[in-house]
Amino acid sequence: MEKKNIDWSNIGFGYIPTEKRYVSNFKNGAWDEGCLTEDNKIVMSECAGVLQYAQTCFEGLKAYTTEDGHIVVFRPDLNAQRMVDSAKRLEMPEFPVERFVEAITEVVKANAAYVPPYGTGASLYIRPYMFGISPVIGVKPAEEYQFRAFCTPVGPYFKGGAKPITIKVSDFDRAAPNGTGHVKAGLNYAMSLHAIVTAHEEGFDENMYLDPKTRTKVEETGGANFIFVTKDNKVVTPKSDSILPSITRRSLIYVAKEYLGLEVEEREVLLEEVKDFAECGLCGTAAVISPVGKIYNHGEEICFPSGMEKMGPVIQKLYDTLTGIQMGKIEAPEGWIKRIL
Ligand code: PLP
Ligand code: COI
Repeated sequence: MEKKNIDWSNIGFGYIPTEKRYVSNFKNGAWDEGCLTEDNKIVMSECAGVLQYAQTCFEGLKAYTTEDGHIVVFRPDLNAQRMVDSAKRLEMPEFPVERFVEAITEVVKANAAYVPPYGTGASLYIRPYMFGISPVIGVKPAEEYQFRAFCTPVGPYFKGGAKPITIKVSDFDRAAPNGTGHVKAGLNYAMSLHAIVTAHEEGFDENMYLDPKTRTKVEETGGANFIFVTKDNKVVTPKSDSILPSITRRSLIYVAKEYLGLEVEEREVLLEEVKDFAECGLCGTAAVISPVGKIYNHGEEICFPSGMEKMGPVIQKLYDTLTGIQMGKIEAPEGWIKRIL
């Protein structure tokens, strides 16, 4: 199969339409059998549930070309399960886990020419999503839904690639106590748009959100979880009911313990103790592991000893091991890698 003529090593994190996407409709209480389509447009009622009350959730995962030339996806079953959890919280029908994995497989196969070649630093980002498509005017769930999955080749989420970024402690919250912070609801991201635009205008790459109840504990950023490293090489990651259970973070915890022999603490992390960490990184499908060099907190600057030039040594090891597993250079734990081609 011939690859598309794309400058793979220089693409950013943007939307490059590919040939095929998957679509399935939920009507009269059941999902239809679903199919691939070339049509990237959606026609819906002006009163659709998604347009009026933001009834939508989504997922994000990646396909990679391995060192030996196969195309694989990373733990799609976990994205499928998280979408089931998101759907339940938003009163949407569940899209079955096996069907989700099958849809992803079909989309990647159909767009294999867009999966960036090994060694380019790029990957194929897959975006499954679901939304209320039937008219809703009183505040209630829609009766009909559409599930879709498209894909787009992407490069690094942050412009500098692996260069450490600078973030600020936000005065805005991205989630409410007992709200929807733990699911991948579109509304969480709408909530964060003003905060991210503000942060960018002020010269920061991202926001650090605090727990909405006490504003003393570290939660996450707009699109990634935090990983910290203590001065004695312990990996610490915030535990909270209002952050998204990142699949990358869960995988890194396993990698840290089982591959690197590191101690890991999943616990509440106070903003106050952040200055004592040696390294900080953001982890997620899009972010992979992006090192944080500096955090700005209302006039105070927290500069990590790892600096602004490169990743700290522990974060680098985590990065190398995780991406090594994804690219087929390091043996993966059972069930982590699904071969597509
Ligand atoms: N937190 C938020 C708010 C996200 O949007 C994402 C991205 O999916 C993550 C964390 C990272 O999750 P994952 O590692 O499953 O991609
Ligand atoms: C992902 O990492 O897949 C996300 O959904 C994050 C988003 C901000 C791009």
